[in-house]
Amino acid sequence: MSLIIDQLKETVGFIRNICPAVPEVGIVLGSGLGNFLKDIIVEASIPYEDIPHFPVSTVKGHKGALVFGSIQDKKIVAMAGRFHFYEGYTAREVIYPIRAMQRLGIKNLLLSNAAGGVNPDFKVGDLMMINDHISLATVNPLLGPNDELLGRRFPDMSEPYCPKLMAKARAIGAALKIPLKEGVYFGVTGPTFETRAEYKMIYRLGADAVGMSTVQETIAAVHMGLPVFAVSVITDLGIEESPAVITHEEVLEAAGKAEPLLTALFKQLIVAL
Ligand code: HPA
Repeated sequence: MSLIIDQLKETVGFIRNICPAVPEVGIVLGSGLGNFLKDIIVEASIPYEDIPHFPVSTVKGHKGALVFGSIQDKKIVAMAGRFHFYEGYTAREVIYPIRAMQRLGIKNLLLSNAAGGVNPDFKVGDLMMINDHISLATVNPLLGPNDELLGRRFPDMSEPYCPKLMAKARAIGAALKIPLKEGVYFGVTGPTFETRAEYKMIYRLGADAVGMSTVQETIAAVHMGLPVFAVSVITDLGIEESPAVITHEEVLEAAGKAEPLLTALFKQLIVAL
């Protein structure tokens, strides 16, 4: 048996001992978006550092726990805080928790992140449903030997974000009057924010927003055949007319302000699954 499968079995065994209920939906909460958890009935919260083979989160604003709970009758597991490549983890480490959630039994993966807007129609605080991504400026987490038990060597990426989930989200957005933009997410490693020339380039290459997460997690999910839905909260604008300086604090503040809308959307979507 392969090392990764052995590790995943150990991880899942440890988690099931604490929380035997099978979650249906996996959720990853981005920078400044952890308050979603205040709205759910929490059944267990397991710090990452206790979970065998999990990396440990270090960034401000990231709580670092796998949280099990329910929303109405739906069992969920949420990552309060995620692992980023810029923290020094390998791309494979970044996606390990996604693999673990898939093996715990989730049937859909909901991702959220804070991102810089490059589409001139965007404002700070907008929600952008990710309908595609550009991953060429990140490290592919499937590099290296492929384990066929997890997925194929050359996964198709023509539809990384699930059209059915996007359709449901559009309907929920319309019903709840949540303005929902749509666009392409450009993945970068960070940790620097982009230069003005880079933001301009990213827009010209066909993206609407840029961020330091999500792409690797989506690739891992697609590799395993797990449907993905993802939303960016636009926390800053990289376009030329906007102020030049972007700070992590501003990003957290903007994400916090937009959080109630994101939370409402995620909750309704989970209930509708
Ligand atoms: N660039 C990259 N990542 C980000 C940004 C940005 O402007 N804002 C929030 N995360």
